[in-house]
Amino acid sequence: MAQPKVLLTRRWPEAIEARLGEVFDLTVSRDDLPLDADQLKAALRDYDAVLPTVTDRLSAPIFDVASPRTKILGNFGVGFSHIDLAAASARGITVTNTPDVLSECTADLAMTLLLMVARRAGEGERELRAGKWTGWRPTHMIGKKVSGATLGIVGFGRIGQAMARRAHFGFGMKIVVQNIPAVAPETLAEFGAEQVGTIDELLPRCDFVSLHCPGGAENHHLIDASRLGLMKPDGCLINTARGEVIDQHALAQALWFGTIGGAGLDVFEGEPDIPYALLGADNLVMLPHLGSATRETRDAMGLRVMENLVAFFEGREPRDRVN
Ligand code: 8YV
Repeated sequence: MAQPKVLLTRRWPEAIEARLGEVFDLTVSRDDLPLDADQLKAALRDYDAVLPTVTDRLSAPIFDVASPRTKILGNFGVGFSHIDLAAASARGITVTNTPDVLSECTADLAMTLLLMVARRAGEGERELRAGKWTGWRPTHMIGKKVSGATLGIVGFGRIGQAMARRAHFGFGMKIVVQNIPAVAPETLAEFGAEQVGTIDELLPRCDFVSLHCPGGAENHHLIDASRLGLMKPDGCLINTARGEVIDQHALAQALWFGTIGGAGLDVFEGEPDIPYALLGADNLVMLPHLGSATRETRDAMGLRVMENLVAFFEGREPRDRVN
């Protein structure tokens, strides 16, 4: 049987590209740019499998191709809000993702942001590099204590739990969680965590709030102006989930007017474009979507996609099917 034709929409770790090339008739999009709508449609028409990333917007109209050859979208990443699952299913296309393998590194990055915001590490580095540091003084760049503080976690799946583990066992933080559906008591007990029914109950109680829920329409602007208004005046918001979960303009206002203490963002609505109002906010740390960006994790993500693909083309159920 001929090898399935597989398209990588972006460059992947070299070793993984090589392994995929041994098993499949592989095409790599060598310019390493996000595919536009016409290119995505052509991909669905011409390849048995397309392996997209968060930068490929596979919305419903993209699936409107006469006779798609594609049978599987093996997404490189756990989040898949850039893929219209209903449209994929309607065309008989299987969609898979890469859970588990990136939980640790994404939680590490959420903790990095939390610490940076709390201890004003971004501001401090900017001051020093600008040659504006005038020397030590007792009142210089005073931050917020992390150890023992209360962390609210919105979305208590794999990454939320990895974050709780770090915060609770590493920093003695008290954990409050909100999740739909409710979290099992034995899972909460692992982290000494308390569960609340709604985000509105969680926000006023927490010194830090970290978002680990899915993106997409269901959670679009989940954190809006009124919810930001429920946070403590010195509370800090961390987002390593998806940009669309926060109303960025409301967040910029809250940061500029000081109605919250600060924020740390790894993801943005409409990334890589960043609203001007966020760029100038001092009490904000921003990173360019680095959650899973370690050598080990990116390799593991690639291998996980490959595992799904091999199963699929051997006629087995891929372990990470999401539709
Ligand atoms: C990925 C992520 O690198 O897995 C996810 O959901 O957000 C990132 O860590 C990205 O999605 C690549 O497609």
